[in-house]
Amino acid sequence: MNSRIPGFSRLSPAQRAGLLEERLGLAPGTLLPDLGLDAPDLSVLDRRSEGVVAALVLPLSVAPNFRVDDRDTFVPLVTEEPSVVAAASRGALLLREGEGIRTEVPPRRVAGQVQLRGVPEGACEAARQRVEEARDELARAAREAHPSWAAAGGDLVGLRAYGAGADLVALLVIDPGKAMGANLVTDLCERLAPRLEALSGGVAGLRIVTNAAEGPPVRASGSVEIRRLHRDPARAEAIADGVQAASRFAESDPRRAVTHNKGIFNGIDAVLQACGQDVRAVEAAGHAHAVRDGRVCPLSQWRVDGGRLVGTLEVPLAVGTVGGAIEGRAAIRAAFRILGIEASRDPVRLSAVTAACGLAGNLAALTALAGDGLLRGHLRLHAGNVAAALGASPAEVAAVGDLLRDEGGPVDRARVARLLASVRGGRDDS
Ligand code: MEV
Repeated sequence: MNSRIPGFSRLSPAQRAGLLEERLGLAPGTLLPDLGLDAPDLSVLDRRSEGVVAALVLPLSVAPNFRVDDRDTFVPLVTEEPSVVAAASRGALLLREGEGIRTEVPPRRVAGQVQLRGVPEGACEAARQRVEEARDELARAAREAHPSWAAAGGDLVGLRAYGAGADLVALLVIDPGKAMGANLVTDLCERLAPRLEALSGGVAGLRIVTNAAEGPPVRASGSVEIRRLHRDPARAEAIADGVQAASRFAESDPRRAVTHNKGIFNGIDAVLQACGQDVRAVEAAGHAHAVRDGRVCPLSQWRVDGGRLVGTLEVPLAVGTVGGAIEGRAAIRAAFRILGIEASRDPVRLSAVTAACGLAGNLAALTALAGDGLLRGHLRLHAGNVAAALGASPAEVAAVGDLLRDEGGPVDRARVARLLASVRGGRDDS
C-alpha cells in the first residue's frame, strides 16, 4: 500500500474517501457510508481542518449541581466517557453546600519567546540590558500593531531577557484581553524580532508563544461535611480518611500523581473541549506546572479538617473567549450560553468554572476509590449503555443499573439482556 498522495489536502472529502478505499483495497462504497460523508456540516469542517474525510460526533453533556463563587451554573462537557460527567456532577453536589466552590483567577498573562542567536558571550549582559530598557518602545509598537487589542486594554506588560545555553532569549509578556493570546503574542514576536536583533546584536531564531504558564495558576477550593460522604457515619469517616490518604499518596509517589492529575484533567478537558479551547496547550502547561519542583506532584490536595474534607486545586488555564476556533460555531455559543457567558464572553468565569470542574471530578474519583472502588459506578454506567443499545427505556436502563449495582459481577450483553428481561417481567427481547 502506498500512502503517498500529492495534493491530498486539495481534494474534497468525498474524493479523499474514494482514494482511501482504492489504496486500502476496499470495495467502492464500503468506507463512505461509515464515514457519514453526508453530514450536513462536512464542508464547514473541511474548511476548518485539513485532510478531512468525515465528522466524528461527540456528545455535549451538561453537569448540574455546580455552585461556583456564589453563583449556580450548569457546566457543558464534551467527552465520550460517561463517568467523567457523572463524576463532575457528583463532586459538584458534594461541594455545593456551605460556601460552594470558591476560585481565584489571577490576571491572565501570555508570553512569547524570541530566540536571539550569535550574541557573543562577553556582550550578553549589555545586550540583555538594552533589550529590557526598550520595553516602553516595544510596548508602543505592539499597541500600534494591534489597535483594537490595545483599545480593549491589551498591552505588553513585561519584557525580560535571559541567557539559555548559547542564546539570549527575549520574553514578551502580554495581557491578552479576552483572547487566548497565542496567535497574538506569536505575531508580536515576529513583528518585534528585527528590533530585538538590532538591540541585541543577535540573529532571531524561533519567534513563538511559550505554552509555559506565566504568572500564578488558577485556584479552586471547596469542602464537604464528612457525614455527607456516606449514610453510615463510620463509612463516611473512613472515606474521608481514605481521600486524605490518597492525596498524601499522590504527594509522595509520582506514579500515583500522574493518575490523580489525569482524573483532574478528565473534567477540565471536557469543559475546554465544549468551549472550543486549545486543550493541548492547557494540558502542556498543566503537566509542566505539576513537575515544577522536579518531580510530578498532584495538582490538588485534600485534608480532613474539623469534620470537613477540604480540597484545593491549582492549575494554569490559558483560555480565551474570542477569536480563533471559537467564532462562528453554534455549538460553542450554546456551551457559552449554558455557562452563562454568551454575552459577557467572560474568560475569568470560564477559568473559574473549568477549575471547579477539575476539583469536583477529582473529589468524586477519590471518594469512589476510597469507598466501594470505581468499578461499581462504572459498571452501572456501562450496563446502562448496553441496556439502551438493547432498546431499554430510560426507566428500564435505571432499573437494570440498580440490579447490577446490588448484585455486582461482570457486565456483558447476555447478562444485561437477562436483567432487562427480568425488569420487563420475564420478556427477553434481545
Ligand atoms: C479515571 O479516568 C480517572 C481516575 O483514575 C483518577 C484517579 O485515579 O484519581 C479515577
